[in-house]
Amino acid sequence: MDLYEYQARELFRDHGVPVLGGAIATTPAQAREVAAELFNAGSSLVVVKAQVKTGGRGKAGGVKLARSEAEAEQRASEILGMDIKGHTVRTVLIADGAEIDSEFYFSILLDRAERRYLAMCSREGGMDIETLAKERPEALARVAIDPLIGLSGDVVASIVEAAGFEPGSTADRIAEVITRLWEVFTAEDATLVEVNPLVLTTDGTVLALDGKVTLDDNAAFRHSEHAALKDTADVDPLEARAKEVGLNYVRLTGEVGVLGNGAGLVMSTLDVVAGAGERHGGMRPANFLDLGGGSSAQVMATGLETVASDPQVRAILVNVFGGITSCDTVAQGIVTAVGSLEDFDKPIVVRLDGNNAEPARRILAEAALPGVTIVETMDGAADVVTEIAHSAQNAQNAHGAYDTDRQGA
Ligand SMILES: Nc1ncnc2c1ncn2[C@@H]1O[C@H](COP(=O)(O)OP(=O)(O)OP(=O)(O)O)[C@@H](O)[C@H]1O
Ligand SMILES: [Mg+2]
Repeated sequence: MDLYEYQARELFRDHGVPVLGGAIATTPAQAREVAAELFNAGSSLVVVKAQVKTGGRGKAGGVKLARSEAEAEQRASEILGMDIKGHTVRTVLIADGAEIDSEFYFSILLDRAERRYLAMCSREGGMDIETLAKERPEALARVAIDPLIGLSGDVVASIVEAAGFEPGSTADRIAEVITRLWEVFTAEDATLVEVNPLVLTTDGTVLALDGKVTLDDNAAFRHSEHAALKDTADVDPLEARAKEVGLNYVRLTGEVGVLGNGAGLVMSTLDVVAGAGERHGGMRPANFLDLGGGSSAQVMATGLETVASDPQVRAILVNVFGGITSCDTVAQGIVTAVGSLEDFDKPIVVRLDGNNAEPARRILAEAALPGVTIVETMDGAADVVTEIAHSAQNAQNAHGAYDTDRQGA
């Protein structure tokens, strides 16, 4: 799980990493209040920072300084709602401004290929670290960390030296902060702790002005307190609901709902639908949904309901290969599900193959559900469902319906 900067800062503070005061805001008025508190406490400068889980916020205009409450409010109103690399800014952090002398870079991460941790440190931190790493890799020290030894005093000293810091008080302060950051990394079970920039202020203090932390989800069982860091505003509401009912559902951007049994089959169904869509107005899959092994009528009903509640979906493809769960059980599930869902009006194309496919097709044919088409092959089914989706879309456009759900999609 990736954390927001403001959450990383809280972990930093808990472990003694020096950070500046501040708080978050979700409205310009709130931002003004936070700034007022900081100014009243003696600050002469604050910074308004977009909280999004992506890099390059500063370059995108998401980090702005302010010298008054009114200016902080104004900056917050510009930054809130901004789109940074596809992430909408819903929260800003208002923090004390630092008088910066120099910007450094420091990170610790899990180096899976080497089965070690890796520390990286540079005297030339700031917003251009990616360019530095590419063009002058020698300016970015990389020190492998033996997990059994960790960041002992000697290892920390070697990192500071490798980065080119002259022995002295700044080097000592940086070593102290690195030791604290290692504590964050280990005590919180992180796979990444990155500080860019780590700064030296004009009065000689070393501070973490930014923080990126990724927590190891596999260690969640020993950090019940991490559950509160989870971001619910950023998850797709349909995905969240699907997760609650135990469905393996991922929302995509197309028009054809897809349900199948088995992740592999569903993945290839997405490909086949996208391929067929090229012949039918560019229709694309709207989601991934793996019904799993025992596709009972209940699972089928919640699956169909979930897929259909995406307003972009024009038609649905159910693609099942019967194995242990035989096709007739699935067919019965579809009949029960469609019957149990009120106002279910999306066309469904069903392709069933494998164990007991024949009786399954009979069950569906006899039920004669309106809007349900049976197609024998996967390619054929993809062709039919994309054609239906395309004409449904054309029909809606012809009626002049203004489809707000697609705006900004
Ligand atoms: N509290 C602060 N006081 C003064 N300047 C700051 C402060 N925080 C950030 N800055 C300046 O803004 C620049 C960008 O800030 P920050 O590192 O937080 O965002 P970013 O690097 O653009 O974002 P990301 O790390 O997501 O790419 C910093 O390099 C620093 O020069
Ligand atoms: Mg940064």
